[in-house]
Amino acid sequence: SVLEMEVEQINKGNYEHYMQKEIHEQPESLTTTMRGRLIRGGSCKAKTVLLGGLKDHLKTIRRSRRIVFVGCGTSYNAALAARPILEELSGVPVTMEIASDLVDRQGPIYREDTAVFVSQSGETADTLLAFEYALENGALCVGITNTVGSAIARHTHCGVHINAGAEIGVASTKAYTSQIVVMAMLALAIGGDAISSQARREAIIDGLFDLPNRVREVLKLDHEMKDLAKLLMAEQSLLVFGRGYNYATALEGALKVKEVALMHSEGMLAGEMKHGPLALVDENLPIIVIATRDTCFSKQQSVIQQLHARKGRLIVMCSKGDAASVSPGESCRVIEVPQVEDCLQPVVNIVPLQLLAYHLTVLKGYNVDQPRNLAKSVTTQ
Ligand code: AGP
Repeated sequence: SVLEMEVEQINKGNYEHYMQKEIHEQPESLTTTMRGRLIRGGSCKAKTVLLGGLKDHLKTIRRSRRIVFVGCGTSYNAALAARPILEELSGVPVTMEIASDLVDRQGPIYREDTAVFVSQSGETADTLLAFEYALENGALCVGITNTVGSAIARHTHCGVHINAGAEIGVASTKAYTSQIVVMAMLALAIGGDAISSQARREAIIDGLFDLPNRVREVLKLDHEMKDLAKLLMAEQSLLVFGRGYNYATALEGALKVKEVALMHSEGMLAGEMKHGPLALVDENLPIIVIATRDTCFSKQQSVIQQLHARKGRLIVMCSKGDAASVSPGESCRVIEVPQVEDCLQPVVNIVPLQLLAYHLTVLKGYNVDQPRNLAKSVTTQ
């Protein structure tokens, strides 16, 4: 009806689509996610994290034998992005489970495990089944959701709301970045206050405070990403190579492109390149390589060299000021992003890829908020 259409336009504000609005409101949604949870200054403890929904369970989580992340799609990717920092700060082994696969295998889950269920909607059938399974096996069950009152939020032992605000577009964007931030805060909370890691923890907290501004900065690449989309819109396929903190960025960037732009796209672990994917490389297939500064930087530089040697059509994402040190030649396109604390870099790096997926879709004339065959939350198996 006309009324429904008008209400929709009001909800979208000055944007044409929900996905576009949700990408651009990330500086604000991230601020809301962190509000009241990061403490800087004050009398005794200088910088710390407060997650009210977890405080009675932190000791148990710290003592657990293993932390198991469980989710589907984008929520799984967010957990994958947070895994390295959780392992680093907690010292507890962290394993990853796609919800349906855990149930299919009836994989081992023990009383000494902490199982963390990540779900924007809190109602995804596969995640709920995996949760019931972990509960039966006696694990401590933690929920990370964006929906107060959802099944995951109500039935888990404890948890954290991401507070990103309602997400309407089927493609998850702002929930992804808020999930990563919540899990980084979870890592800080579980990590405790060992002197040895104090400088690292403080750098991450400073980085979190600064993150909304860095995301505001990276959103300025909108036009550049639209130009890149024009260049790529007729392509059959797109590869995205990442590693370390940004393996998740590769998977999530490719997921966005395939689900809304209906273009074949694969995210790949750059360390696996020589073990098969390299055979695909020729002068036609576009490849995005994520090579922002972190401990994997020199390895990514050599990946770029090897792809270039095989005449790969390269698009490199690098830290500001690094264009010359990553670009192997004139033909290579470069996306420069602001550098942040390494474990928070996935929050910045996904934004240009969200914009790319959005523009590819609009240019191709597809429905960006409601891709064919997909539902916002998959409540059936
Ligand atoms: C994300 O863009 C997808 N629509 C999809 O992968 C989604 O993340 C997945 O279905 C999980 O949903 P949830 O976070 O609500 O559990």
